[in-house]
Amino acid sequence: MVSASTPLVSLVGVFYTLLVVVNAAVIIKRSSIDSWISEHYGTAEAALKRNIGSSSNTAIPKGVVIASPSTSAPDYYFQWIRDASCVMEHLVDNYLESGQDLSYIMDWIEVQKKLQRLDNPSGGYTTGGLGEPKFHVDSTAYTDPWGRPQRDGPALRANTLMKFATRYLTTDGGFVRSQLYDSAPQGQSQTVIKADLDYVVSSWSQSSFDLWEEIQGQHYYTTIVSYRAMVEGAAFAQKLGDSAAAGTYKKTAESMLDTIHGFWSAEKGYIVETHGIQGRSGLDCGVLLGVLRSPYVFTPGSEQALATTEAMVRAFEGLYPINQRNSGPGFGIGRYPEDTYDGVSTSSKGNPWFICTATVAHTIFAATSEFTSASSISVTPTSLGLFKRAYSGAKEGVYKSGSSDYNNIIAGFKRLGDGFLEVLQRHGYQNGSFAEQFDRENGFNRGARDLTWSYEAVLGAMRARKAVV
Ligand code: NOJ
Ligand code: NOJ
Repeated sequence: MVSASTPLVSLVGVFYTLLVVVNAAVIIKRSSIDSWISEHYGTAEAALKRNIGSSSNTAIPKGVVIASPSTSAPDYYFQWIRDASCVMEHLVDNYLESGQDLSYIMDWIEVQKKLQRLDNPSGGYTTGGLGEPKFHVDSTAYTDPWGRPQRDGPALRANTLMKFATRYLTTDGGFVRSQLYDSAPQGQSQTVIKADLDYVVSSWSQSSFDLWEEIQGQHYYTTIVSYRAMVEGAAFAQKLGDSAAAGTYKKTAESMLDTIHGFWSAEKGYIVETHGIQGRSGLDCGVLLGVLRSPYVFTPGSEQALATTEAMVRAFEGLYPINQRNSGPGFGIGRYPEDTYDGVSTSSKGNPWFICTATVAHTIFAATSEFTSASSISVTPTSLGLFKRAYSGAKEGVYKSGSSDYNNIIAGFKRLGDGFLEVLQRHGYQNGSFAEQFDRENGFNRGARDLTWSYEAVLGAMRARKAVV
């Protein structure tokens, strides 16, 4: 009995073991991004918080968000309104999710009240000073020459704070009304959000430096985050009973629409970052950052945003040696193809950035979520390129949830997004730190170390991937 059944038992055993091993290999491959996220999400968030002053991090003044701890080559030991507002939106999202991080938000509000009132080279409280892009860590004005003003800051700060205040209203309405939003007429407000919204009303159409602090003009990023401030500002003001301001914000938003649509170039096949740009393609990661931070007019799943994503990937896949040596599907993505800033010097060659690589992943995941919540995907001639990149069998048409084309496209988008996360995984430090850039030739970290905004961008892409169903 025993001798007769032994060979069969062991054959079944071997077969079963093989099955387990093969299955495990597939699961390990599929889950390597999952486990990278679960290992590194907390690390990235802890690193982000190390760059914010708090009662447990007294090396930095309370409520101050530094761009990076690097004090030379490059010196990023400053507070930028843009970087800080984006970073704080991550902590506000935490607060909305689980009530955590309230003290970071409260401390940051205190600092913003002070910064708004500091006379600086861009002006004073009601005379343009809110457009000043960066301040010293001790919250004094930075007075050396700089690309100023940058008009995205007040809009980004208002967006972050309105998201918080809308929730916090039921906890402490008195605080919201006394510190964040009063109904004083334009120019007379003493509250942070109202002052920022009024700044957007009066200055959104004027030219300013772009988010990369290099060129003056009207920029997609700056305009679209301002549009969000006006749309959400109208709803917020209404909620607080200020229908006069709500009307002004709504009208301002409407008056921005022609400008916003004008950034789309059917001829180029992508959204151009700066109106009338000279000597550059206008292809820019700022556009995708704008689409994510303000998913109005062009959402991540819109044909214009998908076409811009494809144009970005196509431009960068052949540009950097590390990309040329890589078969994809993910590639290192830079700010814009003509960039010459290497993280220290501007007369050099540009590199891929963690922010921009994460942004492409995030856009792809956000688009995927848009498709799944609509239970439908529309592939147009304009967006076909990115669909083909994700799934080679893609063709123009409308695909409903349940069809095999729909499933193939969704699976292809997830794989494509994961490809960009793998690039982050490969070039970040083993211990989970991220600088600003990674070298175009050898992939090593470059530029400001532990860039706070890099952590926010990586966390944003991880969150967007977790949200895909
Ligand atoms: C530092 C800025 O932050 C960076 O964006 C820019 O490229 C260089 N200065 C050159 O203006
Ligand atoms: C340079 C980037 O171009 C700019 O967007 C950023 O605000 C600063 N560095 C600080 O991180």
